[in-house]
Amino acid sequence: QGIKGPKYQLFLGNLKELATLNSRASAQAMPLSHNILPRVLSFYHHWKKIYGSMFLVWFGATGRLTVSDPALIREIFVLKSELFEKNESPPLVRKIEGDGLLSLKGEKWAHHRKIIQPTFHTENLKLMIPMMGKSMEEAVWKWSEEMSNAGKVEVEVSDWFQNLVEDVITRATFGSSYEEGKAIFQLQSQQMLHATEAYQKVFIPGYRFLPTKKNRISWRLEKEIRKSLLKLIDRRRKNSGCQGVSDECPNDLLELMIKASLKDSADESSPSGSLSSPLAITANDVVEECKTIFFAGKHTTSNLLTWTTVLLAMHPQWQEQAREEVLRVCGARDTPSKDDLAKLKTLGMILNESLRLYPPAVAIIRRAKMDMQLGGLHIPRGTELLIPILAVHHDPALWCHDAHEFNPARFAKGVAHAAKHPMAFMPFGLGARRCIGQNLAVLQARLAIAMLLQRFSFELAPTYQHAPSVLMLLHPQHGAPIVFRKL
Ligand code: HEM
Repeated sequence: QGIKGPKYQLFLGNLKELATLNSRASAQAMPLSHNILPRVLSFYHHWKKIYGSMFLVWFGATGRLTVSDPALIREIFVLKSELFEKNESPPLVRKIEGDGLLSLKGEKWAHHRKIIQPTFHTENLKLMIPMMGKSMEEAVWKWSEEMSNAGKVEVEVSDWFQNLVEDVITRATFGSSYEEGKAIFQLQSQQMLHATEAYQKVFIPGYRFLPTKKNRISWRLEKEIRKSLLKLIDRRRKNSGCQGVSDECPNDLLELMIKASLKDSADESSPSGSLSSPLAITANDVVEECKTIFFAGKHTTSNLLTWTTVLLAMHPQWQEQAREEVLRVCGARDTPSKDDLAKLKTLGMILNESLRLYPPAVAIIRRAKMDMQLGGLHIPRGTELLIPILAVHHDPALWCHDAHEFNPARFAKGVAHAAKHPMAFMPFGLGARRCIGQNLAVLQARLAIAMLLQRFSFELAPTYQHAPSVLMLLHPQHGAPIVFRKL
């Protein structure tokens, strides 16, 4: 790869070494289909011991330089951020994630980010709390009905949280066009499911072009999503400024993007200039951003909610401590207020610890824009760097001997003091391209978990199997069945 430096040792994925490690990990851990984390992390920590905090790992034909030293991570995201750019997702992933904020670069990315940012501003999100509470209430009310005979109900929370999050993201994206938006996002959910098959078989060259049943369904859904979105955008453009705005979410993403596109077509002096400017917002940009927000927000947030519920079910003493706080602060109020939510310190610590142990996004990738020096190595232009969020979050050198254990108390003095380095915690990424939906995700998680704690005690169902697995995101491979009992 042309990477040079005194500390550098080329790691070519020594198969014998992998096999030894694999059998050692199998002896300690459960079978592969169960909990893969000890295995992945033991490989990683073993390599780190041998090769240091930077080593090259091969993903098929692509070598990626793994960087896990927080001081170097700071260089990449803060001190030398202008020297790095996002890598392009493979075409298949890009089709699923949309050509929006996640993958855009340069001026176009900055222009879109500035337009969309107000949707996720705390003042805008505050207005969404009653609606989020209502979505929770409706679902929880249904459980209470199911519970009346047995006094308990078993819920597959990962599916349940996906529906809840879908509802909230639909409102943030579409505001008053919620009903239509919901139908479109349901199509997108189906499309993501079918496209995942091609993603799993990405090692078969050209698989995504083969007319398999799932591929054909995915292509049809893609066309349908685009058509429905364009129809909705067209109508909202005609009504912009009157029917588009909802009280729940006045700055919904669709409204902001449409206003910007109307401004671009009317105002030559806007940042994007006339419609002929490459920065001007087009209907296609709006379509792609809607797809991106749904893709980026849905499974990440529902995974955070799922892992937090699982962890609280596994650790009843923390569940009790969090419940005591919720009942003290929120009392019997149906939906906690924004001020209530801000006071839930223990719950905040628990969410951070959940994001540390099970970060939904397990890694971030950047590409060197030019030749440079990093950590004493010469890195040529084009090198891909992998920042292994999951491994950094589990590194005993940063998080002490109990790095693999659930201990929310480590966040008692705030995020900056939880580890030996402030850059050791990065579930939402770092720097200018950190997650735009962080506030929404955290607010929804605080509200949903607080409302569950207010009403139920919960434990793992006997059928639960602890199997964190990575398919794009870190999710429970066999779902998360949880038994809830009314308090
Ligand atoms: C970016 C994680 C929720 C939308 C990111 C990045 C991470 C991340 C790690 C940075 C990627 C990189 O630098 O390459 C998470 C986690 C979430 C979450 C853990 C929930 C627990 C959301 C939500 C939304 C969202 C709710 C929207 C509704 C985005 C977008 C970007 C992004 C659009 C790209 C930002 C940019 O490049 O300007 N997220 N995310 N995320 N996230 Fe999230």
